[in-house]
Amino acid sequence: MAHLSTALIHGDDKLNRVTDVAPPINVSTTFRFDNNNLIPANEVKDFLQSIDENPVYARESHPNSSRVQAVLSDLLGGHAVIYNSGCSAFHALMCHYNPKRFFMDGGYFGVHAIADLITRNYGLEQHSLDEIEEFAQAGDIVHLETPLNPFGTSSDIEALAKRVHDKGAILSIDATLAPPPLQDAWKFGADIILHSATKYFGGHSDLLAGVLVVKTKEQAYELIEDRIHLGTNIGNLESYLLLRSLRTYEMRIMKQENNTRKVITYLNENKSKFNKVLNKIYHSSLQDDDFVQKQLSGLYCPVFAITLHSIDQCKELPLYLKYFQHATSLGGVESLIEWRAMSDSDIDQCLIRVSIGCENADDLIKDLENALQILQNK
Ligand SMILES: Cc1ncc(COP(=O)(O)O)c(C=O)c1O
Repeated sequence: MAHLSTALIHGDDKLNRVTDVAPPINVSTTFRFDNNNLIPANEVKDFLQSIDENPVYARESHPNSSRVQAVLSDLLGGHAVIYNSGCSAFHALMCHYNPKRFFMDGGYFGVHAIADLITRNYGLEQHSLDEIEEFAQAGDIVHLETPLNPFGTSSDIEALAKRVHDKGAILSIDATLAPPPLQDAWKFGADIILHSATKYFGGHSDLLAGVLVVKTKEQAYELIEDRIHLGTNIGNLESYLLLRSLRTYEMRIMKQENNTRKVITYLNENKSKFNKVLNKIYHSSLQDDDFVQKQLSGLYCPVFAITLHSIDQCKELPLYLKYFQHATSLGGVESLIEWRAMSDSDIDQCLIRVSIGCENADDLIKDLENALQILQNK
């Protein structure tokens, strides 16, 4: 396979339909049949290939959703199935594998909310990860988000995979916060990988999308069949935007990763200077567990969290920042800061999540330094 930067630009060349260098935006929901070559649905040999090459109806596939899946399959080292949001992708996973029991600690509150809906409707049993040995059985799902939102800290995939597989259960990894080349969850035992493509793959805070990655074409086929019925394919315009974003993905993630390390190093080394404001800093690069370096291949996720000494400081900090916009979400080219209490009701009320973008690292550091200094001097 070509290197990452090449695959991002050429992974979908095989699906070119016109001579345009930039694939067109398709808004059509339906596509004319070839009247000289009519193959009824029950005689189609390879359904997946067929809907990629000859789209029929946009809920099944459309030209840019197929192109996006081709690029994401190369990028993520498996068979990618695209959805209209990260939450949709998680729901599709639960709907398809239909576990009796679900195991998860912490992580994105929206994912917990979906598990709660399934518990409400169908009685799904929910457990924490330390209950795997006691309760897990074949076919159950263990879901791990690593690095963990909103902290940017990591947990050991390999150690968990062993415990999960000993029970015959399925390990899904939400790798949204450390997409390739930061982390390759397959190497450590993941069975399924999930990303909110709204974050780093979209990268410009202007689209919602999600992706599930599986190991075989057959699994992808089954998920796509479900997706057709659930009506959760990515939209036409979003798929065009996502495709365009993916072309520059490697440059963006590497810049964000590099910026993050500089910012974290600055904050960590200058913590005492802001002792009246800054309480704790959370990030995988500050963890001393052995697995972290290996699992993250020496690259760290561009999200971290800090806690401040008071709620008032959390409310004030965004007022003094020029480049960090106060908004939820992460992964875009623009740096964001969020007093997390604004969107998560179960979180430490003094926690601030930081998502580092593609600005100049020195400018970001100066911006944070200035804001923290104002609060320190109060
Ligand atoms: C780790 C993680 N997983 C899943 C999701 C859900 O993704 P989406 O907002 O695209 O539905 C998010 C959203 O913030 C997230 O941070």
